[in-house]
Amino acid sequence: MSVTDQAFVTLATDDVYCQGALVLGQSLRNHTTSRKLAVLITPEVSSGMRSVLRSVFDEVTEVDALDSADSVRLALLQRPELGVTFTKLHCWTLTHYSKCVFMDADTLVLCNVDELFDREEFSAAPDSGWPDCFNSGVFVFRPSLKTYNLLLQFAAEHGSFDGGDQGLLNSFFSNWATADIGKHLPFIYNLSSSAVYSYVPAFNHFGRDTKVVHFLGATKPWNYKYNLQTKRVMQDGTTSGSFHQLSFLALWWNIYSASILPLLEKFQKMEESESEEWKHTFSGVEITLKKVDPSVANSLQMPVLPEQASEAHPTACSSEELTFKAWLYSSNLYTKLNNVDLAFISLSLTDLPSNMLLILHFRKPLS
Ligand code: UDP
Ligand code: GLC
Ligand code: MN
Repeated sequence: MSVTDQAFVTLATDDVYCQGALVLGQSLRNHTTSRKLAVLITPEVSSGMRSVLRSVFDEVTEVDALDSADSVRLALLQRPELGVTFTKLHCWTLTHYSKCVFMDADTLVLCNVDELFDREEFSAAPDSGWPDCFNSGVFVFRPSLKTYNLLLQFAAEHGSFDGGDQGLLNSFFSNWATADIGKHLPFIYNLSSSAVYSYVPAFNHFGRDTKVVHFLGATKPWNYKYNLQTKRVMQDGTTSGSFHQLSFLALWWNIYSASILPLLEKFQKMEESESEEWKHTFSGVEITLKKVDPSVANSLQMPVLPEQASEAHPTACSSEELTFKAWLYSSNLYTKLNNVDLAFISLSLTDLPSNMLLILHFRKPLS
């Protein structure tokens, strides 16, 4: 049964973090979540990446990066690095959901975690560096414009003690540590990979119950190299990791290589074929053949061809540059163009339906 008024929400402000968001989204799908999947992006995310995101997420929402252009600008001007993670606050604006679970783009679910929606705002797991603070990589919240505005106001007045959203949220939801143990998520819902080596016996004892891995820290899964044949994560001078970290990284890479890379490749091919363009020169006439999306083709008007162009032979045209566009049948036109002369093209110009755009540039004096 799907629940349409609740969602998992993540954030990606650039194409790099999108890779993490995609793996997280796919991991939630693999474990058959009954909740919606939403991703917040900023204008920087490319259009190709947005198409890929739409094939994994139910909702892709563009928000402004929270930076000096926003209402917290005065506070942020002195701390420009705050901008990006403050963007997370936009999750409170998703008011068409009654309750959400925010997850950092560098998290991965290992099983179905829909039971998180039984919790109330504000629920989160302890931060391994300072357990009286929660980690803001996974939290349960209720979208509300009132809360959103209070958070912005709080940010403008107090800033954040760690320069990111986690410091701000911990100051805002300041009674988390003491008020209600029900709002403390078990650590297995946000296991930071660094905790694996800081308390090995605990990890050996409880680690097998891990539900969410958080690749916290500067080196993210996508910074590692992966051998597609052996399905192993490789380490070089810039990356390191314990055995357990490596096995979590391998899980991330398995999803990335099996489900995300093929999507990225598919959309890349589509983009290439959409912009497919062939240039030819026939007797001083430069011809550009462009494949266009049918919706683009339909929105263009068939131009009224100049009198002499109906017989589009170079010698019949004026010496001025003349550009005209025409609809043509798309199928094997490329081959046809290689084999026929311009007289044939002039005939084809009368064939209207097409997803091809033919542009003839009469660039040189045609004599
Ligand atoms: N984020 C982003 N773009 C950035 C940095 C961060 O979209 O340039 C988002 C992303 O969802 C990320 C989260 O903010 O997971 C928090 O940042 P990060 O995970 O890098 O912090 P860490 O958990 O390592 O402290
Ligand atoms: C933390 C959290 C992350 C947050 C960052 C900045 O380490 O894991 O979610 O964005 O701090 O406050
Ligand atoms: Mn993170």
